[in-house]
Amino acid sequence: KRKIIIDCDPGHDDAVALVLATLAPELELMGVTVVAGNSSLKNTVRNALHVLAFAGANTIPVYAGCVKPLERQLLNQSGEEIHGEDGLGNYRFDVEAALPQRKHAVDYLIETLRAAEKPITLVCLGPLTNIAAVFERCPECKQNVDCLVIMGGAVRVPGNVTPAAEFNFYVDPEAAKIVLESGCNIYLHPLDATMQALFKRKDIEMLEYAEDKLANFVGSLLALYAGTYEKELGFYACPVHDALCIGALIQPSLVEYENAAIDVVTEGEMAGKCLIDTSRTGSVWFATKIDSRGFVRIVEETVSADK
Ligand code: BDR
Ligand code: CA
Repeated sequence: KRKIIIDCDPGHDDAVALVLATLAPELELMGVTVVAGNSSLKNTVRNALHVLAFAGANTIPVYAGCVKPLERQLLNQSGEEIHGEDGLGNYRFDVEAALPQRKHAVDYLIETLRAAEKPITLVCLGPLTNIAAVFERCPECKQNVDCLVIMGGAVRVPGNVTPAAEFNFYVDPEAAKIVLESGCNIYLHPLDATMQALFKRKDIEMLEYAEDKLANFVGSLLALYAGTYEKELGFYACPVHDALCIGALIQPSLVEYENAAIDVVTEGEMAGKCLIDTSRTGSVWFATKIDSRGFVRIVEETVSADK
């Protein structure tokens, strides 16, 4: 099994990624670290705990991380527009959630990476604040990162917050720059690819009306998510951005990557924009194309396998 830690800011698509990661037989979810992004840290921590409890994965430890970006105030208004005021469209959980761990997420990541016998895969689904803080405080920790599987950025397509920037990079561009320049192996899943990770009405309904409890849960989350995305897309569907990172770990052939050096703009109106240089080889592999139907199938199969 591949050992992973998920850093996230749930968020509907983060929630689906968490559910998939607890179920995928290929993955061992060691811990979940949480960051402010789609909503305040208080809400994103609460959401992560509830989602894990619902998935029957209450024993996976959850660590609260940075309350705001490295050098900026948290701008979560655009997160709220898509994910609702509480980060999960006011989904009513009927479960008893565990408490978060006392340790700060950054301390947990540093201690775990330092002690790791084998390199660990970090799956990063929110603003990269926690991860950048780890690399700043403990540069040698990078040696124990197998790779970073990141959702973020817009390389050759427009952003979803400004014409230049995607949400996770826009919220904390300084952190994105630190991480992309870390020299670690990075599999980046920018909007170029995640906008293809689209669940359409019949895909969502199939889950919503399934017998299986978790399939049903994911279906309800996606229905809420598609309801808000409809305004943006003009039709009822939703790109399940973050879940693509888990899909790619379960079945790597779902995604095609290109190699590049990528820099992130940190100043002015273009903050959060990806500057791509394909003439240099870099440590970043960015996703360009995905098997969209294959992705939907993997999600459906994974959430329905739990009986
Ligand atoms: C990213 O921003 C958030 O709203 C989603 O959870 C995803 O991580 C997409 O731009
Ligand atoms: Ca996210």
